[in-house]
Amino acid sequence: MSKDRKADTQSDTYGGKEIKPDQQQRLPHHMEMELPHELSINPLFAREGESTIPRLHLADGGMLPETAYQIVHDEITLDGNARLNLATFVSTWMEPAAERLYAQSFDKNMIDKDEYPQTAQIEERCVRILADLWHSPEPLKTMGVSTTGSSEACMLGGLALKRRWQNAREKEGKPVDLPNIVFSSAVQVVWEKFANYWEVEPRYVKVTPEHPQLNPEGVLAAVDENTIGVVAILGETYTGLYEPIAAIAKALDELQEKSGLNIPMHVDAASGGFIAPFLQPDLVWDFQLPRVKSINVSGHKYGLVYPGLGWIIWREAKDLPEELIFRVSYLGGNMPTFALNFSRPGAQVLLQYYNYLRLGKEGYYEVQKASQNVALFLSKEIQNMGPFELLSDGSDIPVFAWRLRDDATSHWTLFDLSRQMRVFGWQVPAYPLPPDMETVTIMRVVVRNGFSMDLAHLFLVNLKQAVAFLDTLDAPMPHDTKYDNGFHH
Ligand SMILES: Cc1ncc(COP(=O)(O)O)c(C=O)c1O
Repeated sequence: MSKDRKADTQSDTYGGKEIKPDQQQRLPHHMEMELPHELSINPLFAREGESTIPRLHLADGGMLPETAYQIVHDEITLDGNARLNLATFVSTWMEPAAERLYAQSFDKNMIDKDEYPQTAQIEERCVRILADLWHSPEPLKTMGVSTTGSSEACMLGGLALKRRWQNAREKEGKPVDLPNIVFSSAVQVVWEKFANYWEVEPRYVKVTPEHPQLNPEGVLAAVDENTIGVVAILGETYTGLYEPIAAIAKALDELQEKSGLNIPMHVDAASGGFIAPFLQPDLVWDFQLPRVKSINVSGHKYGLVYPGLGWIIWREAKDLPEELIFRVSYLGGNMPTFALNFSRPGAQVLLQYYNYLRLGKEGYYEVQKASQNVALFLSKEIQNMGPFELLSDGSDIPVFAWRLRDDATSHWTLFDLSRQMRVFGWQVPAYPLPPDMETVTIMRVVVRNGFSMDLAHLFLVNLKQAVAFLDTLDAPMPHDTKYDNGFHH
């Protein structure tokens, strides 16, 4: 082992954060250090004389494609089964025709718009479709782009808010050095990243047992003239619940009437943007509310596309400051771009359009309704088991979460249950709620297309077996599962 590698193994920070000793062993680079530094190759598929290759530096020579394939293929058999991954929101199943299209288009770079004009046109069509679905007043000309996921889309939405605020303040001759952004303490980490990376003060409206969700009063107490915007979530990551977007917009309307402060909203509809239009068509959360200036969604979540796709749409073209758009000529035309990445796969955009054609509104309804039925069935059964209490039941997005009742048991926790479910192959995350409610641990199931009612019945059988096993313990589980079991999304 080289000197610096050894030093690295002993390090107690990771990404600037202090790492507890019991967490250190879980970090990928610490694990790598404990493994032999050479991979051994099975003689059955190696060339003669090839028995090992270095694990952590590039070998001098190459190997046969089949050998390389087999090595990678074998290693990833240790990954969980994606279909049994109830932690992720991201699609783990698409039908064979979609996979065929994927294989035919994985060489397309989305940025090569001049070279792949039809892919670019299809992206544009997808933007119009979403703008229309979310009731933009000008669906045919407003701005929108595809991104690698909601995270990039949120960054773009936040940047547009910041720039609009700066422009308005500068026009009035007011200082622009102290921008803040308001959201719930239950936001997805992307909003913490946005605030950190783009130097905007994050103002968290804390979720508490009395106010488990972002609420208009909390928002009003947090905003001021330096607020670039309020972010509300359609489908909270922790529980799947919708934040009360219309009520927050109304409170901000009233604030504007009283004080003149005009604070825009961005809706983070990473999951709900492809659910609410089909399952809750009467819910008013989108551009029907004039205060909502931009909305993001993950195409790779309930848009039903494989990983690597997000979207952001602005209510009207004027809501995206023109100076954020770059026009590049070296692609062969004069292409406007607003994105953090330059190169990025184009295939997912084609898959999104495939889904639009294939499903239409009725198809999206059917698929999402089937997921919701599974979520409602499972959450009811879990509630009826006895030791659990629901925080949500899947009637917003098809995601539900539950906690262990305080008096249920002192011998096991939801972290133990999560680990026990892994024995059957199910990946069900347990994690603490955000600060101020972090003493409450919850477990969450994301029901996606492909998690059928049949699989749900099998899941329930396994859950009951896992609980029955844990209930045989006659003393508390003798380990600290909080750190050695955790996985989250
Ligand atoms: C509410 C919310 N916003 C943003 C994101 C980030 O989305 P993505 O994984 O598409 O980057 C997530 C992911 O779970 C989310 O739940």
